Amino acid sequence: MMVSMQSLRQRVDQIGFVDDPVDLTLDLYEEIELLKKKKNAILLAHYYQEPAIQDVADFIGDSLGLSRQAATTSADIIVFAGVHFMAETAKILSPEKKVILPDLNAGCSLADTCPADEFSEFCDQHPDHLVMSYINCSAGVKARSDIICTSTNAEHLLRMIPESQPVIFAPDRNLGRWLERKTKRKLTIWDGVCIVHETFSERKLLTLKVEHPDAKVLAHPECEEAVLRHADYIGSTSGIRRYAKENDTTSFIIATEEGILHQMRKDSPQKHFIAAPPESGCNCNQCPHMRLNTIEKLFMCMHHELPEITMEESIRRRALKPIERMIEMSEGVS
Ligand code: 13P
Ligand code: SF4
Repeated sequence: MMVSMQSLRQRVDQIGFVDDPVDLTLDLYEEIELLKKKKNAILLAHYYQEPAIQDVADFIGDSLGLSRQAATTSADIIVFAGVHFMAETAKILSPEKKVILPDLNAGCSLADTCPADEFSEFCDQHPDHLVMSYINCSAGVKARSDIICTSTNAEHLLRMIPESQPVIFAPDRNLGRWLERKTKRKLTIWDGVCIVHETFSERKLLTLKVEHPDAKVLAHPECEEAVLRHADYIGSTSGIRRYAKENDTTSFIIATEEGILHQMRKDSPQKHFIAAPPESGCNCNQCPHMRLNTIEKLFMCMHHELPEITMEESIRRRALKPIERMIEMSEGVS
């Protein structure tokens, strides 16, 4: 039965993705490549996406790299294989482009810890503070911020703010505390956390270190301090990838979402990468939000150009300023 575009749109609005069955005889890689050319679309993917999506992407990167790509692309359509706040950031930066996300339900547990209205009240209680927000937040929170940062540039940007200036840092408390330790500066920190990065177990990490005494531990700053204190390197996903590629060590324990291991294994097939274990025996080191996107949903999303990211223009304009400030002030940082 043929579905009209209007009723398809209504259904996607309700459930967040196109749920038509995909023809199993299709080569989805080939089809996606054809759609990219036909529609002048660019496919941006975060490192936490499933390997099949990473393999068909035009650009794979961390939050900063993806924002830079979204700001400068000449494509008409940005297909964002990541989570909602990332696609939203792309729309804020490139409002004239159509930005689509394979599954609109791909949110972020960390961004959800910081509702815009509560955050605004919190900021009102600290009127003398400059507001620095991690990019993992909604457009509403960005609109209330003075500057946005990512894990790649947070330390760099904080050091550019005069020491006498009090700073609110939101929403990730682990990244905030790590910044405090790095810069020896007190911050007023929002109490948010990511369900994936808080799950890593110090106890199991120590056991792994005994089993692999030569392995270096590489961790994302969203991890708890109990994990970070055992790390040989702490940095963003792109920092972790680069460190493993350039370092002479042949064995690494990785404390971040395990999707990143795909590119690391491609970079250095001779090296050994071990995903740091969560406390329970489950797959909790996979982000349940990122993993809502699948290659089938990606194909459907590109075919129908749905679901699309939209937002109120007044919020978009206010959210744009702190993101542009971040991009300008972190030129050359990677
Ligand atoms: P980066 O890729 O910027 O390091 O961020 C990690 C993350 O948790 C994204 O949600
Ligand atoms: Fe959000 Fe954590 Fe998933 Fe990153 S890994 S998108 S911070 S829930």
